[in-house]
Amino acid sequence: MTRRPLIAGNWKMHGDCAWTQSYLEQLLPQVEANGPEVVVCPPFTALAAAAVIVVGSPVALGAQNCHWEDKGAFTGEVSAAMLAEVGASWVLVGHSERRQYFGETDETAVSRAAAAQRARLGAILCVGETLAQRQGGETLAVLERQTRGLGGLDPARLAIAYEPVWAIGTGHNATPSQAQQAHAFLRQRAREHFGDEAARHLRILYGGSVKPGNVAELLAEEDVDGALVGGASLDVAGFSAIIQAAAGRMTSTR
Ligand code: 13P
Repeated sequence: MTRRPLIAGNWKMHGDCAWTQSYLEQLLPQVEANGPEVVVCPPFTALAAAAVIVVGSPVALGAQNCHWEDKGAFTGEVSAAMLAEVGASWVLVGHSERRQYFGETDETAVSRAAAAQRARLGAILCVGETLAQRQGGETLAVLERQTRGLGGLDPARLAIAYEPVWAIGTGHNATPSQAQQAHAFLRQRAREHFGDEAARHLRILYGGSVKPGNVAELLAEEDVDGALVGGASLDVAGFSAIIQAAAGRMTSTR
């Protein structure tokens, strides 16, 4: 079978409305409808401005977080339905920066993914070990823990992003074989929770210092089905080059 590659840009806390508009006007002409699936994840405040531009285009919008409840007294939070209303079709959950700075846990990450799916959004569940955990030989144990709640999710509206914390924003990406080992383990976890067929269709993205110069070798690995790109996604030319590299991978069948 062939998994359609998914390339998502996580802008983090970058991009006002004017910048978003200019970025997307440059990106859109470079994205082909039958190429890799492309998602951009601007900050909440730029989603509405982005939606006006991407409507009817092959570029989908994602948000960077959502709450696990559908509504309520949660000052400062945003529900998945609110994101859907404004035009998002994906949402990142459990990003390591949420885990590191904002108290995200394995349980809340999965709860947010479930809320996203209730609102008919796709959830990109981010997982990955810290440097200390890798050096301590705990990588697979950490990934096992982070994926314990998978069974409560719908695999049809899910992607998993393997983002080793030590590779995020550092310029030091995981090697293709490090990524493949983690991705193969994550697919095995998906198999345990969802069965063979759904696990075969699940996209597992790699994130952490993805650049135009390293994406092809990462995507050449059997279980690397796309990329979640931070810093390099802020440059239209760089992000387009990453999308092109993923398009090249579509000719191979797996
Ligand atoms: P960088 O690509 O900047 O390393 O960030 C990765 C990331 O955190 C994407 O979610």
